[in-house]
This record gives sequence, C-alpha cells and structure tokens, in this order.
Amino acid sequence: MGINEIPVLSGGFAPVEREISIPLTDIEGEVPKNLNGMYVRNGPNRKFEAPGRYHWFDGDGMLHAVRFDHGKVSYQNRWVETDSLREEMHAGSALWQGIKDPPRKDRPDMPIKNTSNTDVKFYAGHLVSMWYLGGAVYKVRPDDLSTVGKLDVDERLKGLPLSAHSKVDERTGEFLFFAYGKQSPYMHYGVMDRFGKLQTFMPVQLPGPRLPHDMAITPNYTILHDLPLFYDMDAFAAGRHKLKFHHTLPSRFAVVPRHGTPEQIRWFEAKPAYMYHVSNSWEEDDGQGGTEIVMTGTPFRLPRDWHGNIEADKFPKMPANLEHDFLFYEWRFNLRTGETKERVIDDIVNQEFPVINSWMQGYKTRYSWNVLMARSNRAEDPRFCGFVRYDLEQNTCTSYHAGIDKWFSEAPFAPIDNWKNEDDGYLVGFMWDDEKKQSYVTIFDARDITKGPVCKIRLPQRVPNGFHATWVSAERLARGY
Ligand SMILES: [Fe+2]
Repeated sequence: MGINEIPVLSGGFAPVEREISIPLTDIEGEVPKNLNGMYVRNGPNRKFEAPGRYHWFDGDGMLHAVRFDHGKVSYQNRWVETDSLREEMHAGSALWQGIKDPPRKDRPDMPIKNTSNTDVKFYAGHLVSMWYLGGAVYKVRPDDLSTVGKLDVDERLKGLPLSAHSKVDERTGEFLFFAYGKQSPYMHYGVMDRFGKLQTFMPVQLPGPRLPHDMAITPNYTILHDLPLFYDMDAFAAGRHKLKFHHTLPSRFAVVPRHGTPEQIRWFEAKPAYMYHVSNSWEEDDGQGGTEIVMTGTPFRLPRDWHGNIEADKFPKMPANLEHDFLFYEWRFNLRTGETKERVIDDIVNQEFPVINSWMQGYKTRYSWNVLMARSNRAEDPRFCGFVRYDLEQNTCTSYHAGIDKWFSEAPFAPIDNWKNEDDGYLVGFMWDDEKKQSYVTIFDARDITKGPVCKIRLPQRVPNGFHATWVSAERLARGY
C-alpha cells in the first residue's frame, strides 16, 4: 500500500513538511479584541517515512499555535524535538517503527518512540508536551515553540514514564502527574510545585498492568483510574499485548489527598467501564457531614446484546479501531460511606473531548463543552463535526453540527480578559473542511454555540488532524503558571 492509500497518512491526516510562522489575515467575522493569549494543539506529524504499518498515533509530535493579541492573529507550527526525533534527524531516516510493529529490542531505554504527540499544557513558564504511553515530558518555549529539552525532574522520577493528561492546577501552578507501567506497583502519582520541585511522590499499587488514560483533581484530592480494559494476561505472560475487556471486574478509582501518602489511598468500585477523558471533578457536601467527590467524563458506550449483557469480546476493537461511541457520565465517591453512586448524564448525544473553564478545574462547574462526533464504524475516522454545550444545572444540552465534511478538534475554553461568569469566553480550535480541503481556526461564543463560529480564519497551510490542545491566556503567560 502506497502512502497516499494509508487513510491516516492522507487527506486531513497527511503530515505537513514545513514549519511556518505567519500572521493570519483571511478572516470571516471579527476576532474578539478581548481574547488574548495562545491556543496550542499537539498532534502526530511523521517526519521520516518508516517501514512497516502505520497507526495514527505514531507520528512525531508537532505543536500548532495560534496567538491572539488584541484582534491580531498569527499561526506557527513546529515539531517537538524529542531525543528520538533528534536521533532520526541526525541519521536522516526513521529509526523506529510504529505501535503496530514490534518494539526495538536493542533499545530497552526506548523500545517504542516517545513522540510526545498527545497532550500539551502550560507549566512553570513553558509549554509541556506529553505522550499517551508515558515518557519524558518535553519543555517548549511558548514564544517561538522551540524545544528546550526534557523537563527537569527530581532524581526519583528519572526514567518514570509520565503520562499525558497529567494536570496543571492553574491556581497553584502545581503539576500533578501519574505514571503507569508494566512492573509492580504499576502506577505512581506525584505533585511538583510551580518551580519544578517534587513535593509529593508515591507508588499506587495496582493488581497488575493497566492502561489508564486520564486522572482528575480537586483542591484536596486526586482521583486515579484502574479500569478493566487491559491486557489479556495469558497473552501478556507470553509477551504479547492483546487487549481484553475484563467485564467481570469493576472499574476502580483511587481517591487520595493531593499531598497524601499511599496509606491514605481509598479505592472506590464502580460498574465496569473504559474512558479516556475526564470533564471535571469537585468536592461536595453530602448533606450528612461527609464529603462526596464528583467526577464527570465520557466513558465508552459498551457494546451489549439484546438482553443488555456486555459483549466483552467486541469492546477492545473499539478503542483499537478508533471507533467513537461515548456517554456523558457522572461518578460520586462518598468519603464518609465508601460508596460509589453513578449515573448517565446523557446517552443521546455522542460526545467526547470535554473541556471546561480551566480556572474552575477542581471546582463545581455548570458547563462542559464537548466535541460532537459521528458514531462511526469507519475505523480511524475522526469526524468531530461540531460541539455540545452541556448545562449541568439545567440538565440541558445544546449543540452545533457543522455537517459531516467539517472536522473540528478539541477546542479549549478561552476566557475573555477579566471574565466574570464561568462561560464568559470562546471555544478556539482548528477545523478541517474535507470538502474544500482547507484548514481554519474557528472561534465559537461559549455562551451560545448554536449560532456556529462567530469567526473563521483561513490557514495558509493544512493542520493535520490531531489530539489535545490547551489555551494559555495572556495573563497566565505573564504570570508564568
Ligand atoms: Fe487523551
């Protein structure tokens, strides 16, 4: 199969070859002057053609930034120069194959290439890019997207695979991280302060190797995930990484004080599920003098037979094939009783990539803006065709569907200067028009997404479909955390 025939290397997926930095002037609508800061999105962009099979997750991390300055807008894209990409650039060719092919046996330090292509946050004055399988975190200058190098970490964290979806608490500037691996204790959790000093670090003993994707934080607690989609342990013992949904096991969530100790971890059990992304988490009074930790997110809708039984064998193929079918869901962990309560918030609208006003992370939020997506059975097809605004106070949902040829990507909430209400801001993201074969920046009014983008900015070069994004306000950039 030629490269152009590999779906995730063609069309809106195809990598771009040029790093550019350019003002954006082809604008429909008006760029809000009170929107100041930068939008940055990470995603795969393969630099060197590698032999073997290609998975969408294999490409080298590239950051795409859109800077907003009192109505002026500019775009820049640059690779994250990871150690492995630098090795390949030095060699002038690919040195690793992708996740569909065997890992490098001669490189125990890096059997699979840490592409740093998954997530990006702002921490300690820099952008930090992360990888979903966990590895070194890379530090990138926000002003020109140049890679400084690996994030300096405490001796105890050297070699620890820090995961994507580690969190930054904007109010304290702390970096709260989790790492997971194939050796006991299988997970670690820790907190670095806003200067990079390790404050808290602990093992989180799991029953075996797991594949958590996200975590949640409140001001006082951290919630870690042990979900029953993990390896077929017989195959694992034989050295193969076949996934199995262990539907007879519960989902388990560790609730631990932010700066606690391993002895303070409390495990809560819930129905078997698998999820990528948390929307938010917060603490509530349970009405009887206790505290309840609430967590919202978007687990997969599990395949079930006519009798409602989980079809466990069918499920591992869904994440493997990037099939999208999600619920919006809530868990409540009662610290007084040790009980879990859970409920479907919405099983009508298929939605993922939830975002909130990130200053409110850890505090009760009314709104979650989620990507509206096709319930597709076409593998590797990210038709993220619009947005959903969920109002948890009214229990209502409004949406905007742009048509099946418009593919958006995660659009972080970007607050206006001096915002007051939780939804005083915009959703900023990229959109690929698969009909016109053209990329845009789109800006939605977060208070009313139903009217569609209030501003659409044409990009001079395509932005390949990608993963996570963040908004860093001018105020945060100036503050440094
Ligand atoms: Fe993710």
